[in-house]
Amino acid sequence: SELVPIPQPRGLPLIGNLGEFTTSPMADLVRLADIYGPIYRVQLGSKSIILVGSNALINEICNEKRFHKSLKTVLGIVREGVHDGLFTAYDDEPNWGKAHRILTPAFGPLSIRGMFGDMHDIATQMCMKFARHGPHNPIHVAEDFTRLALDTLALCAMDFRFNSYYREDMHPFVAAMGGFLTECGNRQRRPAFAPNFLFRAANDQFAADIATMKQTADEVVDSRKKNPSDRKDLLSAMLSGVDPQTGEKLSDENITNQLITFLIAGHETTSGMLSFTFYLLLKHPAEYQKVQEEVDRVLGRDAITVDHLNKFPYIAAVLRESLRLRSTIGAFSVEANDDTVLGGKYLIRKGDVVSALLCKAHLDPVVYGEDANEFKPERMTDDNFARLNEEFPNCWKPFGNGKRGCIGRPFAWQEAILAMAMLFQNFNFTMHDPNYQLQIKETLTLKPDNFEMRASLRHGMT
Ligand code: HEM
Repeated sequence: SELVPIPQPRGLPLIGNLGEFTTSPMADLVRLADIYGPIYRVQLGSKSIILVGSNALINEICNEKRFHKSLKTVLGIVREGVHDGLFTAYDDEPNWGKAHRILTPAFGPLSIRGMFGDMHDIATQMCMKFARHGPHNPIHVAEDFTRLALDTLALCAMDFRFNSYYREDMHPFVAAMGGFLTECGNRQRRPAFAPNFLFRAANDQFAADIATMKQTADEVVDSRKKNPSDRKDLLSAMLSGVDPQTGEKLSDENITNQLITFLIAGHETTSGMLSFTFYLLLKHPAEYQKVQEEVDRVLGRDAITVDHLNKFPYIAAVLRESLRLRSTIGAFSVEANDDTVLGGKYLIRKGDVVSALLCKAHLDPVVYGEDANEFKPERMTDDNFARLNEEFPNCWKPFGNGKRGCIGRPFAWQEAILAMAMLFQNFNFTMHDPNYQLQIKETLTLKPDNFEMRASLRHGMT
């Protein structure tokens, strides 16, 4: 069959297609996909990236015999801060395999179940805050879910309390992380020939932010070393776990990298998922009502226990549908192991970067039909979800792919279901501004921006 060239917007010498990009690169990529179709190439300075935005093409690049995770993207810049942490480790780097083997058991079903108490502790703090806030004051949704996700991760994984619900501002780690991720994005959009001295202030801040994150991680480790406990959590797995394959433990440096990685990877994404979910439910009263009914049917006024958690299939469907429409990580990237042909006609060279554009592919009408843009949790009930994945493999990829897929998925899922159930049991929610139009804030992850809601107690707190 005939090979055809991959479409590409016209660019300029030196900067290529950098001119297409604003501070909302994900929105820019979707706009280009609308113009150029399910596969196109952009040139970012000296780097070339191929974007795919259909289920058929993403299904091909999920084949781990043909493609592996790439760091020739913004993740390569993130790597300057967190080095060989799981998220930014090279696929063939020995420290990836070692940490993956040591840490995977800490995310097994029993471990996650064991985290219920700590998750409940932080979710209760959130509910107390909302209750005291009163029914008229706006809740800054993304901020309060960031508090939830950060504190939950740190408590469950490291027995460390950020106490974010007890302070007006956020812990310095959050500001440092935000600054770090934003700068990673800026550097990605900076032409390679731009002289470094122009960016001295930004470079100094970048180094300072990394230092602040390291300091937080070291505090966590010190606090554990000073107060040894027999807790079986992620940190204890990091400190004492032995890799069955090599007989080795993780180095102190690697532990620092992992802790920062988990703090970053584990909270922005979950917070974004909950924020978009509340936005979508408040825009869709019938679906909101169904969540309410499920929570009332399962819990009534009883206090939630770990055994309730698998009794919320409708909430699970809502979360899946929310991640479909608004994946908090909008794309993931792989590169070709060898020269290969995509879609029967596009030549991909060994080492070429191909990004799965989830915010486009999750709207593929071939998979999701003509109403793909609409919020319809029914298509994501357990049965329908299984059927979809059978008919269209790799049609729903918010947690990435294969061996480099999200290690924290069961953690995020339990945390989100617990939070949703407790919030709906105790509160009625409304939009603070009924005319709010969705704005999206992009760092490495996506979140609703300036989205506020109100919460009024339905009865005394349960
Ligand atoms: C990897 C999404 C929650 C830790 C990933 C990847 C995605 C993702 C797309 C693959 C990235 C790539 O291919 O480059 C999400 C979403 C979450 C979530 C949407 C919440 C809704 C979490 C949580 C944790 C976590 C709670 C930690 C407890 C990680 C780590 C990796 C990862 C360590 C790297 C795995 C590896 O390469 O070995 N996540 N994540 N994530 N995630 Fe998550």
